[in-house]
Amino acid sequence: MRPSLLLGGVFSAAVLASCVLIGCGGGGTSAIDPALSSGNWKWAMPFYFPAPFVPADNLMSEEKFQLGRYLFYDKKLSGNGTTACASCHFQNLAFTDGKAVSTGSTGQLTARSAMPIANSVYHPTLTWARPDLVSLEQQAAVPIYGTNPVEMGVTAANEPTILALFAANAGYVARFKAAFPADPAPITMPNIIKALASFERGVISASSKYDLWNQGLATLTPSELNGLTLFNTEKAECFHCHAGHNFSDQTTFAGILPQGNLFHNTGLYNIDGLGGFPAPNRGVFETTAAPADMGKFRAQTLRNVGVTAPYMHDGSMKTLTEVVAFYAAGGRNIPVGQPNAGDGRLNPYKDPLIPRINLTLAEQADLVAFLNTLTDNNLLTSPRFADPAVFP
Ligand code: HEC
Ligand code: HEC
Repeated sequence: MRPSLLLGGVFSAAVLASCVLIGCGGGGTSAIDPALSSGNWKWAMPFYFPAPFVPADNLMSEEKFQLGRYLFYDKKLSGNGTTACASCHFQNLAFTDGKAVSTGSTGQLTARSAMPIANSVYHPTLTWARPDLVSLEQQAAVPIYGTNPVEMGVTAANEPTILALFAANAGYVARFKAAFPADPAPITMPNIIKALASFERGVISASSKYDLWNQGLATLTPSELNGLTLFNTEKAECFHCHAGHNFSDQTTFAGILPQGNLFHNTGLYNIDGLGGFPAPNRGVFETTAAPADMGKFRAQTLRNVGVTAPYMHDGSMKTLTEVVAFYAAGGRNIPVGQPNAGDGRLNPYKDPLIPRINLTLAEQADLVAFLNTLTDNNLLTSPRFADPAVFP
């Protein structure tokens, strides 16, 4: 057995012991370099969550977080007033939308499935397969301004009208002023983007049953524990790619250099027998056109995965049982006659960590039981992350 970094009972006991020594107590916060945040911002996280990296030109503040929350839920931030960020990112589904692909403000479909927002502060690259998208500020501009597809439909032509709507709203005028006190004319699109990124950075998911167990505050069932053990050992190999406190090998935080180049082909497709994935979902290949990048995607965080169906970048798996069976088989064989037929198990670019695994059906059920312990009801229901129209 090779326990993964920050995971598993051994680690848990060790950090609990150190916690007693330094007295971090229930809901203790990580040590954080004060330079990384603003005066009134406090990260509320367990001790095994590393202090997040925050860019120097957009330090955290409660005022920016709150402005960002209002903006995230506001349809005014779209060309035709129909679409907010929250139109595709629902709190009760861990900020996904329950669909394989999403619909933008003008009816166009996204190529891939909407992703959870929580803990995105820890991702060195954003979205499913974009090595070049490396900050939440950069990412937010994609749905706002993107034309392929149109998501929120903001353009140079309609942007002044949208900003005027915010400027005409006394509540927003006060919130922008509080969030950007040094800025004499704070209602601008760059500030909107900064506030949205601050809100996202503050959406931390750390209160799942697994987290409570990790802090000695809950017990896992024998099935959940067995699933955790399988997850963290060479038998199922999951922990290599779904590593660390955020269950993704793409994790960055304060004090370490971003390691953004880990993407994996999991053998989902093989449409031409040469390893091909269906366009426009060929993973990192869409950005680099390098053959070796075919079908490579970011190992998704598994936090809250129990409520983020359907699964994979294109929502092509409906249940966690189906996902775990796919891993047990070492890839997906789509029979001749079905769309995108081909044997993904034989994909030449498939990561060597996706072999056929001899998992019994009971072991597969245990893995699913463990994955379901990662659901954080606080994230799904807390007024702090909710629509301000309901929880001002
Ligand atoms: C039309 C639906 C839609 C809207 C509107 C939308 N998103 Fe998304 N979001 C998506 C989809 C789809 C993805 C995955 C994109 C991809 O990989 O191509 C995504 C991915 C993300 C990610 C990446 C998360 C990660 O783990 O890497 C973040 C962050 C995000 N969206 C934030 C926002 C913000 C902020 C807004 C508003 C400014 C917004 N989204 C509006 C559909 C939407
Ligand atoms: C070689 C790296 C690798 C290994 C090993 C691995 N995964 Fe994954 N996992 C990924 C990648 C990459 C994705 C996204 C694939 C995609 O969408 O095309 C993913 C996606 C998932 C998803 C879907 C997440 C979502 O939100 O759609 C689940 C669930 C999952 N993996 C669970 C597991 C389990 C359980 C194991 C062990 C049996 C495992 N993974 C092993 C890389 C890996």
